[in-house]
Amino acid sequence: MSERPTAPPLLDVRDLTTRFITPEGVFHAVEGLSFQLERGESLGLVGESGCGKSTAMLSLLRLLPAAGRIVGGQALLDGTDLFGLDESDMRAVRWHRISMIFQGAMNAFNPVRTVGAQIAEALVFHGLAQDRGEAQPRVDELLEMVGITGARGSQYPHQYSGGMRQRAMIAMALACSPQVVIADEPTTALDVMIQAQILELLERLQRELGLAVILVTHDLSVVAEVCHRVLVMYGGVLAESCEVDGIFNQPLHPYTRRLLAAFPDLSRPEGKLVSIPGYPPRLNALPPGCRFAPRCEEVHERCLQERPKPRQVLPGHWVACHLHEAGAANDRT
Ligand SMILES: Nc1ncnc2c1ncn2[C@@H]1O[C@H](COP(=O)(O)OP(=O)(O)OP(=O)(O)O)[C@@H](O)[C@H]1O
Ligand SMILES: [Mg+2]
Repeated sequence: MSERPTAPPLLDVRDLTTRFITPEGVFHAVEGLSFQLERGESLGLVGESGCGKSTAMLSLLRLLPAAGRIVGGQALLDGTDLFGLDESDMRAVRWHRISMIFQGAMNAFNPVRTVGAQIAEALVFHGLAQDRGEAQPRVDELLEMVGITGARGSQYPHQYSGGMRQRAMIAMALACSPQVVIADEPTTALDVMIQAQILELLERLQRELGLAVILVTHDLSVVAEVCHRVLVMYGGVLAESCEVDGIFNQPLHPYTRRLLAAFPDLSRPEGKLVSIPGYPPRLNALPPGCRFAPRCEEVHERCLQERPKPRQVLPGHWVACHLHEAGAANDRT
């Protein structure tokens, strides 16, 4: 979404629209979401629980649960639309070019197999080694890349701490040397010290391997720490997107401002934390206008009727809010 006049972005997501078709109705989990990811860039994806972050990411990998449908949009990876690929071509992309650390993944290891064996199996499965023996040096290399000595590969997941299991999951995500790693809430279940270590690890890997990273999180302080750009989602749509400094110095969307006020600011210890009254919209019963309107302090008549489109109001700074339409450089849709 930035206007850098350089090569096309590594990942260009245009108007992604994903729904869940269920007996309780159609859930509009992601609607018209567009963003770009440059090579080596770290993008933070933030928003309240249930706003569609994981759904958007699972859509990119085409790993949605059975009720999920991508009903529109494109995801261009180096110019190739992932949504147009047949399943076998998609398999060549998944893990090899884009991989994902799933939400809650550190408990996804099989408890009765050693961590090293599970990474080796992944390497064999993806055709990067003939057998476990051949995979071993790469298993050691991957574990060491994430700060685990190769010898610990012969241990079982229960012999690892939570932080180590998450590191091992990151090693797994790097097994096929992808260009893009999506980390969905990689630190949520961890204590703050371990959280910081995992974030440092992601940052180091990103720098050393030239990875592009999408970091999904509730936590804006995490974004400030490790991301170049940030995308704020609300109720399945983009609310605001810009360079990370812009979000903290000049937040434009009323939702972003409320989100920032809900987090502690260490430079203003006297500042009060303010929760956002109300709840995110039910995605099977959406209001006709702006999805944030029912909770917005600056709501006006038009917001209740017409959905605001994302507009670029400052260079590289996009916002979907009727308050910021005058003087917008261009529309997205
Ligand atoms: N399997 C499913 N069936 C039906 N609806 C679903 C399903 N999974 C998700 N949804 C709907 O999609 C919405 C978005 O869910 P999603 O998991 O993408 O949110 P999220 O932003 O990742 O939240 P969290 O921060 O809690 O992980 C949910 O509010 C829910 O209404
Ligand atoms: Mg999620």
